[in-house]
Amino acid sequence: MAGRADLWYQNAVIYAVDVDAFQDSDGDGVGDFQGLISRLDYLNHLGVDCLWLLPFYPSPNRDNGYDVMDYYGVDPRHGTLGDFVEFLRAADERGIRVLVDLVANHTSDQHPWFQRARVDPDSTYRDYYVWSTDPPQPDPGRGSVFPGEAGAGRVWTYDTEAGAYYYHRFYEFQPDLNLYNPAVREEIRKVVSFWLRLGVAGFRIDAATLMIEEKRPGNGQPEDPHELLRELRAHARRHGGDVVLLAEADDDPSRLGEYFAGGEFDRGDRSRPGGGVDLLLNFYLDAHLFLALATGRAGPVERALATLPPPPDGSGWANFLRNYDELNLGRLHRAEQEQVYERFAPDAHARIYGRGIRRRLAPILDGDRDRIELALSLLFSMPGTPLLFYGDEIGMGEDLSLPGRTAVRTPMQWSDAENAGFSTAPASRLVRPVVDEGPFSYERVNVADEWADPASLLNFVEHLVGTRHETPAIGRVDPEVVQTDAPSVFAHCYEGSAETVAMAHEFAGEPRTVTLDVGPKDASPMGLLGVGELRTVEVGVEVDLGPYGYRWLRVGDG
Ligand code: GLC
Repeated sequence: MAGRADLWYQNAVIYAVDVDAFQDSDGDGVGDFQGLISRLDYLNHLGVDCLWLLPFYPSPNRDNGYDVMDYYGVDPRHGTLGDFVEFLRAADERGIRVLVDLVANHTSDQHPWFQRARVDPDSTYRDYYVWSTDPPQPDPGRGSVFPGEAGAGRVWTYDTEAGAYYYHRFYEFQPDLNLYNPAVREEIRKVVSFWLRLGVAGFRIDAATLMIEEKRPGNGQPEDPHELLRELRAHARRHGGDVVLLAEADDDPSRLGEYFAGGEFDRGDRSRPGGGVDLLLNFYLDAHLFLALATGRAGPVERALATLPPPPDGSGWANFLRNYDELNLGRLHRAEQEQVYERFAPDAHARIYGRGIRRRLAPILDGDRDRIELALSLLFSMPGTPLLFYGDEIGMGEDLSLPGRTAVRTPMQWSDAENAGFSTAPASRLVRPVVDEGPFSYERVNVADEWADPASLLNFVEHLVGTRHETPAIGRVDPEVVQTDAPSVFAHCYEGSAETVAMAHEFAGEPRTVTLDVGPKDASPMGLLGVGELRTVEVGVEVDLGPYGYRWLRVGDG
């Protein structure tokens, strides 16, 4: 098949795990590495071949571990570094690669660097952070990332010990690192080497957009903002040519192309090489997928694909539906946000930060199996690497009584045993409560029951993962939109020299027959996913789609 280079991460299925909510092995109510090891066979059976671990480092844990106190350790609640290495080995035996979160935009205020920086103005650590005795007014658009939560938009907080203000784009307990200090960059490189030496396959780069921006508001944009991640990737790749950097950059789509390794940063007067990112989390597409699901129209998907820059060879998108943060609608127009809110979060309590929804996939879609399958099929058909959030494969729900983004981080539901099989601790000691009420309670939604039921969502997802692995063109060929006369149907294809893979998705809940002008006209189509008759007609393939139906097919000699 013609297309891009063949790289492992372009045909991988990534699964995001929060170690503390996955499996507790020692009965203290908190998930740990031994617990995760015991669930690797489950992940292997599901077919996922890459795990992204949310932060598990020592941390005061005021932001789900994104407030790191020690970059070189494992929080004792999750086990030891030895347990981590054993986990890596066990994952490796099953052919599962592991990405870890690199939270380098900021540390916890409890990190020894910050503690030294506060008390001693002459310490070398002082300049690891960003200080001011007279902080400027923050630019509009560069306030707190968590409006309403973190000190009402404050980004400078006064530290009495230091006698100065320090800068933080997130919570006030997460001081930003001064990433323009070469000593800080050296520290980050050491951290990267450390985890690569232990055997991780790469990193999910937290807050990449904020990492590369000028830390002192008012100083303008740095000359070469992408140098930081470009250097980091060059450094990481010295440890192995297929190390991957997966970045969180919820930036304007016109700027996303710059982040990729091989991309270009053009500031008008001068252009420079782009960044060091192999995979970019696709927030823009995510918001548009939900807009399509909310409106019953294919247009938003088409618009998103047309707007996003094509990744350079070797780079790609990491696509997802939900993750452990809010479903961010910030990149949609106001009226579109309202449409999604009305449909998927009519209750204001389910909304957050004036831009997002703090619900999981299954409840957003009313637990409707047809629409959940449609959404997942669509996700796996999008150009790039699909990413699943733990629990979405069984259709878990959220707990809106928990604060903020925590709502979607409840423990994995393994069975209908006490505490959903997650832990033997008394319920009051669990890291977060299990969902034990309503249609998504662990008695109704759990792994054990779903494995036993061939018609379950879990078995569908396993099939979907397998089908995606057998369709590598999705990861490495640019897609083309296929026009149909039905505004509720999105159709696209990946055209290779010998065969074409095409997909059609119906959003309005109405049966439709569409004709796809794809593939060699004399070849008969083969169905890959979904149900419905396929007929070869003069102009291509005729596909019958049921309400919320989806169909993947292959035409050609493949
Ligand atoms: C990223 C993470 C989020 C975290 C923040 C601060 O946006 O996704 O969960 O709170 O960074 O590290």
